[in-house]
Amino acid sequence: MKSVLKSLFVVSILGCISIMFHNCSNDQIPVSYEEVGICFETEIFPILISNCTMSGCHNPTDRAEDLDYTTYEGIMESVKRFNPEKSKLYEYITTDDLGKIMPPPPSTPLTAEQINLIHDWIEKGAPETINCFTVCDTLTNVSFSMDVLPILDSKCNGCHSGPTPQGGIDQSTWSAVIRTVNDGSFLGSIVHEQGFSPMPPLSPKLPPCEILIIETWVNEGALDN
Ligand code: HEC
Repeated sequence: MKSVLKSLFVVSILGCISIMFHNCSNDQIPVSYEEVGICFETEIFPILISNCTMSGCHNPTDRAEDLDYTTYEGIMESVKRFNPEKSKLYEYITTDDLGKIMPPPPSTPLTAEQINLIHDWIEKGAPETINCFTVCDTLTNVSFSMDVLPILDSKCNGCHSGPTPQGGIDQSTWSAVIRTVNDGSFLGSIVHEQGFSPMPPLSPKLPPCEILIIETWVNEGALDN
């Protein structure tokens, strides 16, 4: 009996030490954007929202593979801090196995740039960096192809391109986007105006500087430039 008590005592001491250790290593996760240089809110989260949370996938309703990527906590279930190679998230976006790769075909795979960004973010501890940018450049002559389309490609077109775009709405070319510009739903959904579905869905608005780029392009006549 005595030895059972003794081993219980040892186990609980070990447990306490491991909890302390766990907390210590958590303390070392950098939290400010200045330290990390990668913004979870505006750089990482939108890639995952756009490419992983569409209908049937990792959202709160469908929970494919029991994963919901519409929250930081949900994403962290597939991330091992500081260790991209041991993170399921990184493994599945980089595998050569076509039966396993995410997002699955026919969705477009993530770009090398997006994959590197996710890699570096995990390597830096995968912190929830938010409120990263505050000052926007003053803008004139905004270009659709140089300024607006890259935003749509990274924030919207995981859902709004390809043979079966979500909601039947394609946002991957000027001639497709101009339709939603003309019926008001493009800006309406981006600025979360009442009467339109807020876009991107289930996540914060685009960052203010990106909204400004898009608004300026629309106000300058939504040119095919
Ligand atoms: C996770 C997938 C997903 C992402 C990312 C996404 N959308 Fe959507 N979008 C949808 C779905 C589904 C619908 C149709 C259902 C609805 O209206 O909610 C839709 C509808 C729309 C509509 C029609 C809205 C209306 O009220 O008529 C517009 C315009 C639109 N999206 C633009 C965008 C833009 C611009 C972005 C990027 C800033 C974006 N979407 C990001 C899934 C997405």
